[in-house]
Amino acid sequence: MIFKLVIKLLVLFLCSSTSISQGNNGFIYNGFQRANNLSLDGIAEITPNGLLMLTNDTKQKTGHAFYPNPIKFKNTQDGSSSSFSTSFVFGIISEYPTLSGHGIAFVIAPTRGLPGASASQYLGLFNISNDGNATNFVVAVELDTIENTELGDINNNHVGIDINSLRSNLSEPAGYYQGHDQIQNLTLFSGLPMRIWVEYNGVAKQMNVTLAPLNLEKPKTPLLSMWIDISPFINQSMYVGFSSSTGSVFTRHYVVGWSFMLNGEAEELDLSELPKLPRVVPKKKSRFLTMGVPVLILSLLVLTLLGVGYYVRRKRKFAEIVEDWEHDFATQRFHFKELYVATQGFKEKELLGTGGFGRVYRGVLPSSKMEIAVKRVSHESRQGMREFVAEIVSLGRLRHRNLVPLLGYCRRKNELLLVYEYMQNGSLDKLLYDQNASFLLSWNQRFRIIKGVASGLYYLHEEWEQVVVHRDVKASNVLLDSEMNGRLGDFGLARLYDHGTDPQTTHVVGTLGYLAPEHTRTGRATTSSDVYSFGAFLLEVVCGRRPIDPQATSESLILVDVVYNWWKKGNILKVVDQKLGNEYVWQQAEMVLKLGLLCSNSEAIARPSMRQVLLYLEGAVALPDLSSLGISANGVTFASRDGFEDFAFSHSLSSSSAAESSIFGGR
Ligand SMILES: *[C@@H]1O[C@H](CO)[C@@H](O)[C@H](O)[C@H]1NC(C)=O
Ligand SMILES: *[C@@H]1O[C@H](CO)[C@@H](O)[C@H](O)[C@H]1NC(C)=O
Ligand SMILES: *[C@@H]1O[C@H](CO)[C@@H](O)[C@H](O)[C@H]1NC(C)=O
Ligand SMILES: *[C@@H]1O[C@H](CO)[C@@H](O)[C@H](O)[C@H]1NC(C)=O
Ligand SMILES: *[C@@H]1O[C@H](CO)[C@@H](O)[C@H](O)[C@H]1NC(C)=O
Ligand SMILES: *[C@@H]1O[C@H](CO)[C@@H](O)[C@H](O)[C@H]1NC(C)=O
Ligand SMILES: *[C@@H]1O[C@H](CO)[C@@H](O)[C@H](O)[C@H]1NC(C)=O
Ligand SMILES: *[C@@H]1O[C@H](CO)[C@@H](O)[C@H](O)[C@H]1NC(C)=O
Repeated sequence: MIFKLVIKLLVLFLCSSTSISQGNNGFIYNGFQRANNLSLDGIAEITPNGLLMLTNDTKQKTGHAFYPNPIKFKNTQDGSSSSFSTSFVFGIISEYPTLSGHGIAFVIAPTRGLPGASASQYLGLFNISNDGNATNFVVAVELDTIENTELGDINNNHVGIDINSLRSNLSEPAGYYQGHDQIQNLTLFSGLPMRIWVEYNGVAKQMNVTLAPLNLEKPKTPLLSMWIDISPFINQSMYVGFSSSTGSVFTRHYVVGWSFMLNGEAEELDLSELPKLPRVVPKKKSRFLTMGVPVLILSLLVLTLLGVGYYVRRKRKFAEIVEDWEHDFATQRFHFKELYVATQGFKEKELLGTGGFGRVYRGVLPSSKMEIAVKRVSHESRQGMREFVAEIVSLGRLRHRNLVPLLGYCRRKNELLLVYEYMQNGSLDKLLYDQNASFLLSWNQRFRIIKGVASGLYYLHEEWEQVVVHRDVKASNVLLDSEMNGRLGDFGLARLYDHGTDPQTTHVVGTLGYLAPEHTRTGRATTSSDVYSFGAFLLEVVCGRRPIDPQATSESLILVDVVYNWWKKGNILKVVDQKLGNEYVWQQAEMVLKLGLLCSNSEAIARPSMRQVLLYLEGAVALPDLSSLGISANGVTFASRDGFEDFAFSHSLSSSSAAESSIFGGR
């Protein structure tokens, strides 16, 4: 019993850890996040959140998506056709609630793609000259949303089985059986996800097609059931996929998940893993169309005459880039003009600072009077932009009192603008290091900031729906709100400079002195490399000194070495920021310093998790005895200094370039 359960869990784990899996005869896509393998053509694409979008908002176009490998559809001995079963979840979203066009077909075809096929009523399957031709070798199940009488369509919302032709051999209005004979109608282009099963028994020579809303089990009675031997219509080796086309109505055809199996039952899709279809936003019928048109035309004419020149200039000034895939992020998008006004035209006066990734400006949103900070990040290529924006926007949903809230973004040519809530008290490093800092951070404030940042990082690592690696934890990325809470900013930003790089020349993004040795070595950031950076952060907050101090003598160049050496001499408190004098709780300071050493272990595996770090900081669990952990000078020394030359450091390091050159200097 227990054994069975364990196997079940194991299977579950294996399945859920990857959304694509394939056996000899089948495959399953629970969402298409990692389906870079699918063979796409026409206007088909995979959206950032893992939907297979066969058509976007373009008229008179086709889109195809095929599984890359051929499937052996025939038994070699007798040439009879194998059985197969497939199921997929789809959604059709149209511009209008009552009209759509044209539909989706599941297709078995001799090639990956259907060259020469037409859009509109031909569904991307055939064209006017080859429709009905026996040399096509195409078997399809169509979900048709337009009634084309010339092709014998029964209505504008039907499911049909097609062989070499759009004249279906059998078709029925879309719906499903409840019980044996009670049929429920479905509207294919309702924008709601539906599931369909296509099953073929090669021995009995029967094909069944069953449709149902996503939340229902498979109905017992199929919608279509046809006796047919498909072997004359297919060849030994065939490809399976989807075809779709648009006509004169903007329609997006989506496939959300897909499972296929030859000679067996297609694996059940994991509905919880499927990406969500975009919400249907019904087009508001504009009253201007009926009432305001004449007025509008007149005023437009006048405006055009008056303002063409002005407009062109403004247009250029406020130009932004919006691509089709950004529809889904509309609510998080700011207009450049809005940000321009908010920051008074990005005046120098409003400049808050120049960080690793770009300049940050203060602003006040004209509409809500909300104070914001706008970060202008420049980037050269558009490559990876889409994934990055998707990621950043999803991070915008993070809400935690120790994270700087991301309100939204805006895109221009070679530039990305990120809009954050404004933090009254600026960045922590200014208060720690600036000679002119307005006040000295007390021990209690420091300790509270440390605990806050730890809980923000813990949230990113373990509490949110997905693991977020920050990649650049350091004092200058910690901002202080009006109540002096420490808040982590810039999460995920380092990713922008990580995308699409050739593994041979990995760009390690982060800041020298905070980078875990294995991170520099492999270029891969993990939660434990974040813990390493957090360790460096702990030490800098207690010592009031940067992790690498280019002005220091060579033996005190690296802060963690300094702390380690004083700890070994039994006098770790020697390193506490002298500006604090005796105004600190020595038990807490000692604990934080030792914790900093623990986190700085060069072996990733020996570092605590953020969960443990929190327990230590709260005093819920006593810190292990450092000496019993066998930490040696080698154990904590900043990086093993191996392999530095092999890595290019991004410009985000420029702030510590002095340190960088003194490290490289001797080599
Ligand atoms: C991707 O395609 C290649 C070549 O077509 C194939 O060998 C590989 O198994 C495919 N992987 C997946 C996950 O489909
Ligand atoms: C129709 O499709 C066939 C087969 O792909 C192609 O050879 C032919 O040129 C197409 N005809 C038209 C009119 O597009
Ligand atoms: C239709 O089929 C015939 C043979 O049956 C073939 O010669 C012809 O080229 C096909 N037409 C198209 C457009 O594929
Ligand atoms: C299905 O339609 C094709 C093409 O119209 C035809 O060749 C075939 O005989 C039909 N099959 C059945 C079972 O009706
Ligand atoms: C379902 O659709 C069919 C044909 O489209 C129609 O005749 C029938 O009245 C509909 N049934 C219900 C319950 O709406
Ligand atoms: C098709 O459906 C019928 C009725 O439910 C069932 O008896 C038959 O086994 C099914 N055939 C296939 C190939 O699934
Ligand atoms: C399918 O097989 C038939 C005969 O076996 C052959 O004539 C035909 O060219 C093949 N079609 C394709 C598209 O491979
Ligand atoms: C649809 O996709 C095509 C090709 O990917 C692209 O060229 C086109 O701009 C897209 N349409 C819209 C309206 O974005």
